[in-house]
Amino acid sequence: MSIPTPPVGAADIGVTGMAVMGSNLARNLAHKGYKVAIHNRSAAKTETIYAQHGDEGEFYPAESMEDFVQSLSKPRVAIIMVKAGAPTDAVIDQLADLMEEGDIIVDCGNALYTDTLRREKDIRARGLHFVGAGVSGGEEGALNGPSIMPGGTVDSYKRLGPMFEAIAAHKDGEPCCAYVGPDGAGHFVKMVHNGIEYADMQLIAEAYDIMRKALGMSAGAIGDIFAEWNTTELDSYLIEITAEVLRHIDATTGKPLVDVIKDAASQKGTGAWTVQNAAAIGVPTTGIAEATFARSLSGDEEERKAGVATLPELAQDVDITDVKGFIEDIRLALYASKMVAYSQGFELIRKGSKEYDWNINLGDMARIWRDGCIIRARFLDRITDAYERNADLALLLADSYFTEEITKAIPAWRRIVSFAAQVGIPVPAFASSLSYYDGVRSDELPANLIQGQRDFFGAHTYKRTDKEGTFHTLWGEEGRKEVDA
Ligand code: 6PG
Repeated sequence: MSIPTPPVGAADIGVTGMAVMGSNLARNLAHKGYKVAIHNRSAAKTETIYAQHGDEGEFYPAESMEDFVQSLSKPRVAIIMVKAGAPTDAVIDQLADLMEEGDIIVDCGNALYTDTLRREKDIRARGLHFVGAGVSGGEEGALNGPSIMPGGTVDSYKRLGPMFEAIAAHKDGEPCCAYVGPDGAGHFVKMVHNGIEYADMQLIAEAYDIMRKALGMSAGAIGDIFAEWNTTELDSYLIEITAEVLRHIDATTGKPLVDVIKDAASQKGTGAWTVQNAAAIGVPTTGIAEATFARSLSGDEEERKAGVATLPELAQDVDITDVKGFIEDIRLALYASKMVAYSQGFELIRKGSKEYDWNINLGDMARIWRDGCIIRARFLDRITDAYERNADLALLLADSYFTEEITKAIPAWRRIVSFAAQVGIPVPAFASSLSYYDGVRSDELPANLIQGQRDFFGAHTYKRTDKEGTFHTLWGEEGRKEVDA
């Protein structure tokens, strides 16, 4: 069966790539009253989606890319939802060949922002607009309201923005979509979103690990604790689903499913991108880095086998006399570490924005993450407030609300990190977040010694605390000889 040619200029917007994210976005657009052209590399898929969902709104299925493009009203807007990398480049190329000046190509995939920078430049040179839009919320979000982070030109947002704002999740009547900034800004922000997602998930996993190992609690009982925590400041999508995951019983074994899931975490790479780019521009996103490396360690089967077989624990016994108080300590350690992770993530956006001249509004980013996306949380309201108080806040933790909140958590946080160290439970994200906290609030760090070492072996010079200028010293034997002489 072949698909009839759709009428010219009939559709408001088109989506190519009919896998679940693409088809759900197309359906969401149609549900909001937009006329949507749909296309897929293999037309059979387009036909299936149309057969299953064609009655949900006004769709214009297209068999070829030519038909797809000519079915769009001008200036045309075509959303790409295909695999990141080479498949995205191929579709962009095909579209660009068929489109006309002023038309807009939108990449809603999880693209690396440097790819978006490159593509935007190429497409701009061809007289078209290229929008790299981060979309978060998984399949469900794409269908019912994701958080959308579009980059690109202001002009492209004028055409695209109203449609995206209509299909995005809404919080307190406001859409979880806002113009992020030029070229790669949208995908950069989505990358950081995912980095924070990694940190958040690792912190939750560490809290679970302490409860099961130190208190011997069952998965279900820990699930109940997370459900309780979801009524506190920790209220968030990830805590909510954690409770559900932990309470889920495996149909075949009758055990909690989580107990039969292999402890090797996968990753598609957005966490690693965040860490690489944070390192490149010098932003200490330690929580995200530890979370990313913790996933790598979990998957290092060979190394872990060797470690389990040879490395002694030599842990100390620590009595937990007040179980309720101990669980509350874990909650506070999680809360404090989470504040650090978000503070670091926003710091990365701030510095990235400066580096690339994007002029990203940090308050808007917190606002559009309040619903629809994976890291949605009650907490985001507080971040929005903080940037309303000071749009250029250098350190989120230094905002009065966060300082107050973290202060309340510090004793518990220190107790949990030292407890874990004493009994031998790995808590890389809890511990590194606490170390970051102690680092960023220190008026004296040991970097003076590092500068001395660098100058010793490489004449890399250093600055002094007592006078201006750049200095180099003849260290060691040479230097001593000079002083003695
Ligand atoms: C989202 C998610 C989404 C993806 C995860 C999975 O915002 O909707 O972040 O983009 O499902 O990034 O990533 P990993 O496979 O790396 O865990």
